[in-house]
Amino acid sequence: MKSLEREIQAVLEGKQRYGLLWGECQQLLDYFPAESIDCVITSPPYWKLRDYEVDNEQMDVLIGNEDDPKEYVNRLVEIFSKVKRVLKPTGSLWLNIGDKYHNKNLMGMPWRVALGLQDDGWILRNDIIWDQMKGTQSVKDRLRDVYEHIFHFVKRPKYYYDHDKIRIKPEKQPTTNGNGIISATGVSGKKYREQILSSTHLNEQERQAALTALEETLAKMRRGEIVDFRMTIRGQQRTYHSDSKQVSGRAKEIEDKGFFIITSHAKGYIPSDIWRIVPEDIWRKDAHYAVFPIELLEVPLKATCPPNGLVLDPFMGTGSTIAAAIHFGQRGLGIEISQNYIQVAEERLKESSIQMSFY
Ligand SMILES: C[S@@+](CC[C@H](N)C(=O)[O-])C[C@H]1O[C@@H](n2cnc3c(N)ncnc32)[C@H](O)[C@@H]1O
Repeated sequence: MKSLEREIQAVLEGKQRYGLLWGECQQLLDYFPAESIDCVITSPPYWKLRDYEVDNEQMDVLIGNEDDPKEYVNRLVEIFSKVKRVLKPTGSLWLNIGDKYHNKNLMGMPWRVALGLQDDGWILRNDIIWDQMKGTQSVKDRLRDVYEHIFHFVKRPKYYYDHDKIRIKPEKQPTTNGNGIISATGVSGKKYREQILSSTHLNEQERQAALTALEETLAKMRRGEIVDFRMTIRGQQRTYHSDSKQVSGRAKEIEDKGFFIITSHAKGYIPSDIWRIVPEDIWRKDAHYAVFPIELLEVPLKATCPPNGLVLDPFMGTGSTIAAAIHFGQRGLGIEISQNYIQVAEERLKESSIQMSFY
């Protein structure tokens, strides 16, 4: 095992940009120093979904063949508790996992695993719906399934997250004409000003506060701090989810102040938790069935792995996570039980450039 530790150490120290470790992750994780990894992105085999290419003696260490779903969840929780040991306190775990129908019954496997991890102390920050946009099952008594889950977990409430790196830039900028500034979607504030002045639902103090807030928002747009805004005024616009202040914090603002304003940051907006990305099939034909598209890795890597940080994929498959980490100037360690996939990953990492498409 000496050489295994040396391989891990070489990547930790930055002497090597990546290391591909052939073996079983539950065992190999014990060779990693504690709190040495910045970010883990992985997709374990789904429960009872398919056979991976391993030798017969490795069949019982393969994840996903358990008869009882509880056993599958317990094994994953055990493996991810080892992942927790090697992850830095500021680190993130991104877990992609798919569901399964068993005796016609949708098992809810992603959430069973997520709840198991929560019970084991992980903090769940996002449940991302990966809309794969195509699905070819020929089902006659239910709808097609087109999404999978990607869970973002952390160890501590405070963790590394660079949200400026993942903002989606606004397509249009505000413009000015003779009457002043107009937002990217044509909002000048004129209509809001009229509504505030003629409102019978605001008292004089609220009216003045609303006018001041509107002018401050327009000033922010002139200074280039925001590109757009919307104002909701008592008695004029409805709040988004409900007018009940028990249900909506916005409704409470309307009741307390008479108005609220939401703005669009000039640096762009934060991506949502629904990602529309078609699954990769470049590698599928010859080697693997569940390859991560590189775009899927962009947000996790940019937001939760610092520059030159170290990314781990304990169920590496064909090495997509490691290839993307290298692409974004980070380092990667991958563990994979199948020698065949390790070889595919080696070949893939030798390629000089990866085709990236940004969303
Ligand atoms: C869903 S695939 C991962 C695919 C990967 N995201 C990619 O882009 O190619 C899961 C991988 O975990 C591997 N695997 C299964 N059990 C394992 C174990 N106990 N230790 C390490 N790898 C394992 C399988 O061989 C398979 O390649």
